[in-house]
Amino acid sequence: MDIVLFGATGMVGSRIAAEAAARGHRVTAVSRSGELPATTGAAPGDGDGDRDAGQIIPVVGDARDRERVAELVKGADVVAAALVPPRDGSDPRTPFVSLYEDFLAGVEAGGSPRTVIVGGAGSLRVAPGVRLVDSPGFPPPYQPEALAHADVLDSLRANAASLPMWTYISPAPQVGPGERTGSYRLGVGDDLLPGAASISAEDYATAFVDELESGAHPRQRLSVAQTA
Ligand SMILES: NC(=O)c1ccc[n+]([C@@H]2O[C@H](COP(=O)([O-])OP(=O)(O)OC[C@H]3O[C@@H](n4cnc5c(N)ncnc54)[C@H](OP(=O)(O)O)[C@@H]3O)[C@@H](O)[C@H]2O)c1
Repeated sequence: MDIVLFGATGMVGSRIAAEAAARGHRVTAVSRSGELPATTGAAPGDGDGDRDAGQIIPVVGDARDRERVAELVKGADVVAAALVPPRDGSDPRTPFVSLYEDFLAGVEAGGSPRTVIVGGAGSLRVAPGVRLVDSPGFPPPYQPEALAHADVLDSLRANAASLPMWTYISPAPQVGPGERTGSYRLGVGDDLLPGAASISAEDYATAFVDELESGAHPRQRLSVAQTA
């Protein structure tokens, strides 16, 4: 498949790039820096502008630049987004919703059929009417980012009819570099999976690329957690 991945140099994005390339997909790895994702271990593109199978081609692009997004996604089989809200201490909620509005407008203009989005865990339900982000013990430093993600998901749902096809995949509450076991539990909907605590970024990437390949959950929110 021909995958265009925004946020490809990040902690999560670089694992998605590596997983997709290892399966033989062509990954256009977009970030503002345009660097090659660090942990990939995959061969970079040869620089001739072609999208070679099983390779990762780093390119410069800003997800807020609609014209650039449209240019980059044109002809892709699927678009992936591992973008991050602002982490400079400012309120990230409005800027992150706005980023996704611009980004998805670019995806629409470029004609790509669907987009899979790295989400947040904070909006998952831990009890009827109670989100993880609102529950006692949720770490205050992570609240702004969790709320920004919740706003993006609300916006995706509210505007679903006018947006290109999307799937939103929340990781477990803790996600970080670790081992690729190749196993995970997949939740469909808003409830936190029972006992969901963590997922390695590598196993999250496995679930994410499974969805990139299958397109099995259009306009749905998924979550990924460790096997019991
Ligand atoms: N449990 C949880 O809920 C949980 C835990 C961890 C992470 N996450 C989520 O996972 C996502 C990825 O997190 P991460 O830790 O991997 O982030 P990260 O390491 O900071 O990576 C962010 C990536 O996005 C790129 N980027 C940022 N702004 C961009 C823009 N406007 N246009 C194009 N590329 C842009 C960055 O590269 P440049 O700066 O070069 O553009 C980088 O490649 C985030 O949404 C985060 O909230 C959720």
